[in-house]
Amino acid sequence: MTETEIAPGLDLIAEINRLRREKNAVILAHYYQDYEIQDIADFVGDSLDLSRKAATTDADVIVFCGVRFMAEVAKIVNPKRTVLLPDAAAGCSLEEACGADEFKRWRDEHPDHISLTYINCSAEVKALSDIIVTSSNAEAIIRQLPEDQPILFAPDRHLGAYLNKKTGRDMVLWPGACIVHEEFSEERILQLKAEHPDALVTAHPECPDAILDLADHVGSTRAILDFVATSDAATFIIATEPHIIHQMQKSHPDKTFIPAPGVKDMRAEGGCPCTHCPYMALNTLEKLYLALAGGAPRIEMPEQLRARALKPIQRMLDMSPPPKGKVAPRAAE
Ligand code: 13P
Ligand code: SF4
Repeated sequence: MTETEIAPGLDLIAEINRLRREKNAVILAHYYQDYEIQDIADFVGDSLDLSRKAATTDADVIVFCGVRFMAEVAKIVNPKRTVLLPDAAAGCSLEEACGADEFKRWRDEHPDHISLTYINCSAEVKALSDIIVTSSNAEAIIRQLPEDQPILFAPDRHLGAYLNKKTGRDMVLWPGACIVHEEFSEERILQLKAEHPDALVTAHPECPDAILDLADHVGSTRAILDFVATSDAATFIIATEPHIIHQMQKSHPDKTFIPAPGVKDMRAEGGCPCTHCPYMALNTLEKLYLALAGGAPRIEMPEQLRARALKPIQRMLDMSPPPKGKVAPRAAE
């Protein structure tokens, strides 16, 4: 049996637990991962909380159950650790929409602008940026910048437009989008609202404007979880990747969570719902086990690139409002 095969009848959960102890590994997972991965993870979080966790862990190995840009951030902020991504092909449509050469040309065309870049991008694009942001901290970071400072925002045009509206800025926007959040159907959400008049709609700011206009609350995955936890409402329509509902159901079994439907939703026909992130779905419990057993796929990058990408990430960590009751960490230099 090689390290790329799984013995028939193997107890995957027991093996993952044995290997993580043996290798002093920590398993970090995003809220969009399969339920079984969320349940076995040491920590489940949004992009910002996961980067903070990655920066401060003293485990030898970080198994990052999320997408490539998230695992790259873990390596950038904590380079002494081995960082594993269960499926090396787990990318992101926003990252794909923003190549480093085009981004560099865009920056060169706007010499007076600083670049505020969403964390959903490659390490190369981060290295060409001034400040990285996530959907949790972008607004707070923009408000710290001088009002007359021109800003470029990449790669998500919907998040950028939402932030322009919230802050009154006029950031120049890169034309990228998330294929998952662009999928939600305005018409079908309106239908759901009519069927459940007391339900509140909560949406991720990667959704287009027409969906955000229907929302009672807009926020990052973490903010969405906080909203459903603190709201008195009993029913919620969730306009983000539906695997997040797992955490909601675990914490609030008394409340009802309805995934917002997509335009081409195939749930009724028993197909794969198109509001599932196809990149996040590449990670499985089997691949998590194989990554731990074989020490691959591993995130590696040239030290010069890592050091350049760290600077705008460190600015983000320094400018982020601290998590409640904790001190924001500095990344390892
Ligand atoms: P969060 O930072 O809100 O977790 O978002 C990450 C993401 O990829 C949303 O699609
Ligand atoms: Fe990227 Fe969209 Fe998937 Fe988030 S949900 S990882 S933005 S493709």
